[in-house]
This record gives sequence, C-alpha cells and structure tokens, in this order.
Amino acid sequence: MNGKVAFVSGAGSGIGKAAAIKLAKLGATVLLSDINDDNGKEVTQEVITNGGTAHYYHLDVSNREDVHSLFKNIADEHGKLDMAVNNAGIGGSLAPIHEVKMEDWQQMMDINLSGVFHCLQAELQLMLNNQTPGGIVNVSSLAGLNGIPNGSPYCAAKHAVIGLTKSAAREYAKAGIRVNSVCPGFTETAILNGLPQQFLDFNLNYLVPMKRLGKAEEIANAIAWLLSDQSSFVTGHSLHLDGGLMA
Ligand SMILES: NC(=O)c1ccc[n+]([C@@H]2O[C@H](COP(=O)([O-])OP(=O)(O)OC[C@H]3O[C@@H](n4cnc5c(N)ncnc54)[C@H](O)[C@@H]3O)[C@@H](O)[C@H]2O)c1
Repeated sequence: MNGKVAFVSGAGSGIGKAAAIKLAKLGATVLLSDINDDNGKEVTQEVITNGGTAHYYHLDVSNREDVHSLFKNIADEHGKLDMAVNNAGIGGSLAPIHEVKMEDWQQMMDINLSGVFHCLQAELQLMLNNQTPGGIVNVSSLAGLNGIPNGSPYCAAKHAVIGLTKSAAREYAKAGIRVNSVCPGFTETAILNGLPQQFLDFNLNYLVPMKRLGKAEEIANAIAWLLSDQSSFVTGHSLHLDGGLMA
C-alpha cells in the first residue's frame, strides 16, 4: 500500500485503531479521525513511532458539515484518497422496541448510519474527482444480518449499512471503486462494556463455536484484505468475522 492514502473513522480505539495500525504497516499514509482526540492522537503517535506515516483529524461523523469540510482539507493536503474505513460507531442502550427512547433511536441513526453515509458520500466525491480507483470498507456487524433482542436501533442501523454498501458497490464498480462491509461478531473492544456479562457469556458458551471473542487485529486483517488488490474481484460483500456464529 505504499503511496496510498487511507482514511479511518473511529481510529482512536478498538477495530479502528487496529485497522489504522495495520494499513500503516502495509505502507499506507493513514489519516486517523475520532471524536475522542486524546485516544486518536495517541494512536497516531504510536503509528509514527513505529515508522508509519499518519495524521490525526478531529471528527464527529454525525456532523455532516464537519465531514465534508474535513474531506475538503484532505483533498487540499493529500491530493487524493485511495482507501477508507467507515468504522466509527456506538453500541447504544438496550431496550425492547416499545420502550426505545426517541433520542436514543436518533443518536444511533445519526452516528451509526448517517455517519457512514456522510463519510461514504464525501469519500466517493473525492475518489471520483481524482479519478483514483479506490476501496471502501464499512464496518457493519452480525447485527446487520440478524435480529438482536433489545438492540433494535443498533440492528436497524447496521442492516442499513449493508444496504448502503451493496448500493454503492453497484453504483461505483464501473469507476473502479470497490465497496465492501465487514460484519464482526463479538470482538474484544470497549464497545462490549455496554453489554450485560450474562448475555456475552451465553453467546460465547453456546452460540460461538470457537468459544472466544474476536480480536480487533483479526477484524483489521480482513479490512486490509478487502482494501488490497488481493480482493480485486470482491465488491458489495459482507464478510462475517464471527468465530463461526453465523454457521
Ligand atoms: N466490538 C464488537 O464486538 C463489534 C461487533 C460488531 C461491530 N462492531 C462495530 O465496530 C465499530 C468499531 O467499534 P469498536 O468495537 O472498535 O468499539 P470502540 O468503542 O473501541 O471504538 C469506537 C470508536 O468510535 C469512536 N466514535 C464514537 N462515536 C463517534 C462519532 N460520533 N464520531 C467519530 N468517532 C466516534 C469512539 O471514540 C471510538 O474510538 C463500530 O461501528 C461497532 O459498531 C463492533
């Protein structure tokens, strides 16, 4: 990935952090962004200390204006964008549908769905303007494939991310831009802190054949593959990374 420019949202922690580190190791110049500046800057420094090239940008993906002005800066500063990982997301609160608060629903849609849409739109505009063949990976979830009791806003947003991914794949294939999604199962990151331990234990003991959590690096490896030439005939795909749960 030498000479390529890659953008990662939510790069301050978990899967986004692992993806940024992996892409930098493969030679890309990585543009990290997060709403949490302390974490984002720390990961950026880690990449630089390990010999990579990285720049940090503050970004709340739910703020459409900020997203578009950031990508204008990226165009001015780097001249192009080759790859993007739309990863930033929240777990949200758990409640049965009849008790979901409107503000919780709205926050979930703003970050986990519109956040992906704003970034995707800005990335495509930039990739098309520069006529650079590109690759985009949207981070969905197993919740983008199955119903999740008490997690309907998260589940609805993640299903929609897969729909966006498939539409984008079909629209931009002729422009040489491949758009895929990854669907991680339970992966060891901060987002799991919001889940009841009993629910996690049940899943690991009875539903995940490998009986363990995924590692952020395992998800990052798949993201890197989807962004690399090794997956050159793959677009519109939703890759399950789940220790066999979907099987
Ligand atoms: N960990 C899992 O089990 C799992 C499973 C399936 C999907 N995912 C998805 O993976 C993605 C990354 O989550 P993670 O597990 O690494 O969790 P995480 O909490 O470690 O990382 C999420 C990152 O997103 C950032 N973020 C949150 N809101 C933001 C906003 N509005 N704008 C910009 N950045 C924002 C956070 O600051 C954090 O750095 C999410 O989209 C999540 O839904 C995670």
